[in-house]
Amino acid sequence: MNPARTGSAQESTLFPDLDLEIRPESQATVLVEGRAESWLQALPAGCAQLAYVDPPFGTGKVRRSQAGAYADPASQPRVYAEALMAMLEPLWSALDARGTLLVHLDHHASHYVKVALDDLCGVEAFRNEIVWCYNGGGVARSDYSRKHDVILRYAKGEPRFHVERRPYKENTQSVGRHSTYASEVQIDLERGTPLTDWWTDIPTVTGWNPERTGYPTQKPLMLLERLIATCSDPGDAVLDPCCGSGTTAVAAWRQSRVALVGDRSPEAVELTERRLLAAGQAVRRVRWPGA
Ligand SMILES: C[S@@+](CC[C@H](N)C(=O)[O-])C[C@H]1O[C@@H](n2cnc3c(N)ncnc32)[C@H](O)[C@@H]1O
Repeated sequence: MNPARTGSAQESTLFPDLDLEIRPESQATVLVEGRAESWLQALPAGCAQLAYVDPPFGTGKVRRSQAGAYADPASQPRVYAEALMAMLEPLWSALDARGTLLVHLDHHASHYVKVALDDLCGVEAFRNEIVWCYNGGGVARSDYSRKHDVILRYAKGEPRFHVERRPYKENTQSVGRHSTYASEVQIDLERGTPLTDWWTDIPTVTGWNPERTGYPTQKPLMLLERLIATCSDPGDAVLDPCCGSGTTAVAAWRQSRVALVGDRSPEAVELTERRLLAAGQAVRRVRWPGA
């Protein structure tokens, strides 16, 4: 599958010193080994249409599994949010006039990051707090088990958005073509109902799931494909500076977008390259100076 040429990705030189470009017709994923805070500064303003970031959440654990490890130091949520802004500010400037920023977090600091993003992007740019619910893992005995992440969605101008629809529940279908709440509202049973901001239909990547790479906290392709398909157009450029196992890059390719991703961990970059090559994607790998 080739990225379609109909998107809005510009033919811009991303890193002039490295003679590196991302073009809508390019088939290659650009894969940067380096600290996001340094290489994102080199991106020209408005060069991308969608940015997704899934940083360490500040859990105070070393995240380790068969295919890699990364440190996730604990910090006060206010300090965590300030540090994360060093990544989110250049990501926001790299987005074009209709661009969307998606920030994947959990209960540790999402409330502080939201306040910081309101300051950076403007309260009016906040569009959604998507709640991704999942099962599995440990069960708390003295609290309600924490079984959801949040994805903050901020967007500029009139953002790209393609509504996804799902079938109505059986009881709605049996009531017929009228809303239970307003009899004059017609329900389009065939088209289905637009997706809400809480998602319970995407399981975590565990066990024998064939997409599992063994990288810690790998996110499901279905989650990234949904975000990319709804928040960008075919041919658009998608950024992910904390790519881990490369899920965003694979999902972007499958959705005919062009990806520019990176990670500071050489293990993660190796794994992402192997995963992309195995999926039949071309990769342009770059080691950021001082990575
Ligand atoms: C939660 S994992 C990302 C998982 C990924 N979404 C996936 O599906 O596999 C976070 C990643 O951020 C990377 N990381 C942490 N701090 C970074 C930084 N300052 N710059 C670049 N990468 C960073 C870690 O090495 C780790 O791979």
